[in-house]
Amino acid sequence: MSAITFPDDFLWGAATASYQIEGAWDADGKGESIWDRFTHTPGKIQDGSTGDVACDHYHRWQEDIALMKSLNLRAYRFSISWPRILPAGRGQINQAGLDFYSRLVDGLLEAGIQPFATLYHWDLPQALQDEGGWPSRNTAEAFVEYADVISRRLGDRVKNWMTLNEPWCISFLSHQIGEHAPGWQDWTAALRAAHHVLLSHGWSVPVLRRNSPGAEVGIVLNFEHVQPATSSAADFHAARRQDGYFNRWFLDPVYGRYYPADMVADYISGGYLPHGLDFVQEGDRRTMGVQTDFLGVNYYTRDIIRQGPDNMPQPVDLPDVERTEMGWEIYPQGLYHLLNRLHFEYQIPKLYVTENGCSFSDGPDASGRVADQRRLNYLRDHFAAVHRAMQNGVPLAGYFVWSLMDNFEWAKGYLQRFGIVYVDYETQQRYPKDSALWYKDVIANNGFNLDD
Ligand code: FCB
Repeated sequence: MSAITFPDDFLWGAATASYQIEGAWDADGKGESIWDRFTHTPGKIQDGSTGDVACDHYHRWQEDIALMKSLNLRAYRFSISWPRILPAGRGQINQAGLDFYSRLVDGLLEAGIQPFATLYHWDLPQALQDEGGWPSRNTAEAFVEYADVISRRLGDRVKNWMTLNEPWCISFLSHQIGEHAPGWQDWTAALRAAHHVLLSHGWSVPVLRRNSPGAEVGIVLNFEHVQPATSSAADFHAARRQDGYFNRWFLDPVYGRYYPADMVADYISGGYLPHGLDFVQEGDRRTMGVQTDFLGVNYYTRDIIRQGPDNMPQPVDLPDVERTEMGWEIYPQGLYHLLNRLHFEYQIPKLYVTENGCSFSDGPDASGRVADQRRLNYLRDHFAAVHRAMQNGVPLAGYFVWSLMDNFEWAKGYLQRFGIVYVDYETQQRYPKDSALWYKDVIANNGFNLDD
């Protein structure tokens, strides 16, 4: 029997995001977000659904905190809806929105659960989109005002802040691939968006520190563990480029290294930057590289890459590997390698896994039990992987499973279930799955037996 034990102060948690769980999309003075607009546009979401109601967490937050407490969670990562706080993106403040998050934070603290707040998990006020959205520098300026307003209110109680969730998704998935709101397909706009996202991060860190004394501040990046499909020079080149596009384009500037030169050259020669990096102004490099306290790491899968016909990186789907219902390969070793890389190549002082989890649609049986053995296995194997990385000296301080409960999975709507708690969307009843009950024991014991 091999016992895996974590440090006493290891922070076990779960994560969610405002648009994915709150519902109440136009309640109590909230403004419209780009996700409201996107989901209300026919054809954008696979099952035609919206986040109008989602898990109705806006009205059920007390029940949800009780649920978290029953699962022994020590920390909860949630995001704040910018248009609930500033309906037009800047200017007029919506007190009801501030009150909602203030009550949520009080409730968490009373339950002994540490609040980890993300300022931006994709629900940009539509009013700012109408002025140009992330491709415009004004959006980064408005973000600082928002960061100030929310941290003035919550800064006495929230002591862990994340500026933005997954800049790659905010910029490329949303402006180049077009799968997420606002649904653009424009490389140059995506690169501009990425820059303004990183600027908003850099500008808001000192604001959060000022309004929240003693707080720790970081950013959440999403990573794919990229591997070349073969040892050919062409595939190595393609894998380098994919890693640059997905991982290094954000990691390097956040750690003071500016944009990776190989990628700038690729983007210029590819015609994606017809005016070069004209959106970069003096001082931006330093702003983006502002010192932070931790990095949030979101990891789901690896990416095996070969050189495509058009000289672009092309993902290769290995046959006969285990996949989740998202189609993502289950590859815990990727998380191990990623954490080592971040530690040894970037010397990051503190890391959290801020998201990791899987989609499987197992539902309740007649007795209400949800036997999601595949999720339990997924979590167990990823916990073992992070534990191995910690043995190598990786300063990992906590782990947040994605997600606390099934929720609105963006362009996939409600077709994908990532929760450790099942949500019946008709009745809004919550059913802790087997994985949640197992996780509860892991937290109680601060570890588990690998052979169980
Ligand atoms: C991440 C998002 C999160 C969720 C998971 C499955 O990219 O941050 O909101 O959708 O993927």
